[in-house]
Amino acid sequence: MDLFDKLEGRPSPLGQFTSEGYGYYTFPKLEGPLGPEMQFNGKDMVVWSINDYLGIGSNPEIKKVDVEATEKYSLSAPMGARLMTGNSTEHEKLEEELAAFVHKEDAQLLNFGYQGIMSTIHALVDRNDILIYDELSHACIVDGKQLSMADKYVFKHNDLESFKKQLFRAKKKMNENTSILVVTEGVFGMTGDLGILKEIIELKKEVPFRLLVDDAHGIGTMGEDGSGTGTHLGVQDGIDVYFGTFAKSFALIGAFIASEPRVIEFLKANSRSQVFAKSLPLPLVVTARKRLQMIKDNPQWRETLWNNTLKLRDGLRDLGYTVLPSESPVTPVLTKGSTELCTDIMRKLREEHGVFVSGVAYPVVPRGTVLIRIIPTAAHTDAHIDKTLKAFDAIKEYVFEAAEKMSA
Ligand SMILES: Cc1ncc(COP(=O)(O)O)c(C=O)c1O
Repeated sequence: MDLFDKLEGRPSPLGQFTSEGYGYYTFPKLEGPLGPEMQFNGKDMVVWSINDYLGIGSNPEIKKVDVEATEKYSLSAPMGARLMTGNSTEHEKLEEELAAFVHKEDAQLLNFGYQGIMSTIHALVDRNDILIYDELSHACIVDGKQLSMADKYVFKHNDLESFKKQLFRAKKKMNENTSILVVTEGVFGMTGDLGILKEIIELKKEVPFRLLVDDAHGIGTMGEDGSGTGTHLGVQDGIDVYFGTFAKSFALIGAFIASEPRVIEFLKANSRSQVFAKSLPLPLVVTARKRLQMIKDNPQWRETLWNNTLKLRDGLRDLGYTVLPSESPVTPVLTKGSTELCTDIMRKLREEHGVFVSGVAYPVVPRGTVLIRIIPTAAHTDAHIDKTLKAFDAIKEYVFEAAEKMSA
């Protein structure tokens, strides 16, 4: 059978949604300058779907640096992988600054977080080793696991007993050549809950292992200095390999791994998606340095982000909505309902109220549930929050009735 003909029948849980809802529920086009107010299908929207947590994407000072750095270096330079011809002093300085920011000794810049973390997992553990990971880990961790030759044990999401079970199972299988890598997240991006880092790290006393934390949503938003979930929980030292991306609070592209110098040295030579791929263009590196500096200089952005988050969350709860107990800015509104309810909520909010949110239904969340994921940012204002709460108020009768029908 022709390979392309076969693709039509291949199970693809999201395929149906990407084709039927194309341009509206999937692949929507938000237009105009990046920020909390954008256009969708020609209509003005208050946008709650982008991870520009600190409002950096619309900062004029940063935009100026973007332009100046592009003029100075071009978007092409440097050409080649870091290891070959793609290195620069700017890349190295950024690594130093990132390491210091997250309280680690050294860092490796990654051209993309997704591939970078996959390669990190692949490089760190081999066939003698055991990888233990949270079942709700991001796709990049799951793919990294697939690449790795290690034995893989999965624990139930944030379930300490389940983690212990897998850890002690691993301990029993160990010989003198076996090492254990545990992988989890700082902030789980869909539900906003934090990884049980403290509890996991505590168990190092009983079974030695190394911990890799994907803190994509935590960097910039968590911890008093923005250095992430480990700092927020007081356990940054217990994280052996820290991953942060620029794709969220830096509003950029690129990412990094921070760890001990010997680990970073090893990864720089063995992380295949970095060794065999072009390094980040210089303007991105220069603007990442500027963004990092501004994140350090403007702690009030985090304060505004948190004020906005709490105001929106309290308002939604006062209206009767169920907001999952997120400990991060990610604000997940959960209701019983079908895929149709999920798309209806998005459509009503967009068409009738000029409020743009994204929602997910089965298979991303369990069948019969709908999760509307709202991302507050520091750039949102009280007026945006009020308008959004009014919109949720206006549709609540419809939403709650649909949920009741589902339970009946
Ligand atoms: C939890 C998590 N890890 C990793 C990534 C991948 O990072 P990047 O976008 O830099 O490839 C993402 C998405 O950005 C994410 O949400």
